[in-house]
Amino acid sequence: MAQIMLDGINKVYPNGFQAVTDLSLTLEDGEFLVLVGPSGCGKSTALRMIAGLEEISGGTLRIGERVVNDVHPKDRDIAMVFQNYALYPHMTVAENIGFALKLAKVPKDEIKERVLSAARTLELEEQLEKKPGQLSGGQRQRVAMGRAIVRRPAVFLMDEPLSNLDAKLRVQMRAEIAGLQRDMGVTTFYVTHDQVEAMTMGDRVAVIKDGVLQQVDTPQNLYDNPTNIFVAAFIGSPSMNLYDARLAVDDDGIAIHLGSQTLRVPASILDVRPGLRGYDGRSITVGLRPEDIDDAALSPDHPADQTLQSTVALVESLGAEIMVHFGIDAPAADAGDPDAVEEVKTSEGASRCVARFNPRSTVALGQTVHAAVDTERFHYFDPATGLAVID
Ligand SMILES: Nc1ncnc2c1ncn2[C@@H]1O[C@H](COP(=O)(O)OP(=O)(O)OP(=O)(O)O)[C@@H](O)[C@H]1O
Ligand SMILES: [Mg+2]
Repeated sequence: MAQIMLDGINKVYPNGFQAVTDLSLTLEDGEFLVLVGPSGCGKSTALRMIAGLEEISGGTLRIGERVVNDVHPKDRDIAMVFQNYALYPHMTVAENIGFALKLAKVPKDEIKERVLSAARTLELEEQLEKKPGQLSGGQRQRVAMGRAIVRRPAVFLMDEPLSNLDAKLRVQMRAEIAGLQRDMGVTTFYVTHDQVEAMTMGDRVAVIKDGVLQQVDTPQNLYDNPTNIFVAAFIGSPSMNLYDARLAVDDDGIAIHLGSQTLRVPASILDVRPGLRGYDGRSITVGLRPEDIDDAALSPDHPADQTLQSTVALVESLGAEIMVHFGIDAPAADAGDPDAVEEVKTSEGASRCVARFNPRSTVALGQTVHAAVDTERFHYFDPATGLAVID
C-alpha cells in the first residue's frame, strides 16, 4: 500500500496543448480519491501520467517514498481498470484474471489459488470456465476488476470503469467497487465525469476544470462549501440555481434584489459572512440549492419577504419529491460549464429556477407559485472572480 503524491504536475502534449496545469494532490495510504470534471478537462491525462502511460512534462510524482516520473509502468506496482475492459476473448475468465500473474511467472498453484480467491470476492466462481463473450456486462466488468485485484497492487487506477454499464448495474457496481476498495484498503485514484458517482464513491473528491484543480474535499464539504461558482454548479443534481443579483446592507440584515423581487436575509448572516458588507450596493452572484426552496403553501409561517412568486413552468413528480421549475427575471450566472448555461434559459427569456418541493405540494403547471426560500442558505460568489464569499 502507498501514498500517491502529485506535486506541480504538468502535461503539455507534443502539439503544444496544455492538458494539465500545476496539479498538486496527495492521496493518503488506502484512500479512495475521485477526480471528476467535464469531458476533456484532463482527467484521463492525469491518470495516465500516474500509470506511466503518458510522459510527465513537469512536476514530481511519488508513489510511496519513490519518485516514479521515469519508472516504467510495470514497475510502479499499480493495477488499472478502464472503461473498455479489453478482456482476451479467446481466454476463459480464469485465464483472463490470472494472465498478469502468468506473465510474472508466478507458480501455477499460487495463480490458481489467487484467481479463485479473487473470483470468490467478486462472485465469479460459477463463471471461471466461461469465455468473456458468454458473460453479461456486469460480469465482464467484474472480470476486469478481478484482473486488477489478483495482482494485489499498491495502487488502483480506474478510468470510468462503469460507463459501459446500464444505469441500474452502474449503481450496483458503484457500491461493490467502493466496498471492495474499503476491504482491501488499496489506495485508489478513480476518474469519472459523473458527479453522482464521484460523490457516492470517493472518500474525497477532486474537481478539475480545463486541466486546473478547483477544489478537493469530502463529498459533503464540496456540496456545502463550494469554493467557486464552477464547483457550485458542477456538484449537485439538479444543479444549484445561480443568478446575478444586487445586494443591499441595512440594520436588519441584507436585501437581495433578484430581478424584480427582493429576498431578506437575517442580520446574523453578517456575523458569519462579514465580507458581504463589501458588496453593499453592488452586484453579487447568489446560489440556491433546489432543496432550500419549498412550496410556501406548506409552511404558512414562512416570512413573506423570504418568498419568491412566479408561474410554474414544469412539474416533475418523482414520488418522494417534486421538481418544480419556474422563471425568475434575474440573469442566470455563467458558471463556466457550457452544458449548464444552456439549460437555465426558459422559453420566456426568464432564468429557470428548479426547486425540490415536498410531495404534499399541489402546485400545477401554469399556476402561480409562492416559493419559500431558506435565505440563510444562500451561497455568495464574487461576480468578477467567481470565488465564494466565505467570510
Ligand atoms: N495526444 C494528445 N495530443 C493532444 N491533445 C490531447 C491528446 N490527448 C488528449 N488531448 C487533449 O487533452 C485534453 C484532455 O484530454 P483527456 O482525455 O485527459 O480528457 P478527459 O477529462 O479524460 O475527458 P473525457 O471525460 O471525455 O474522458 C482534451 O482537450 C484532449 O483533446
Ligand atoms: Mg477520459
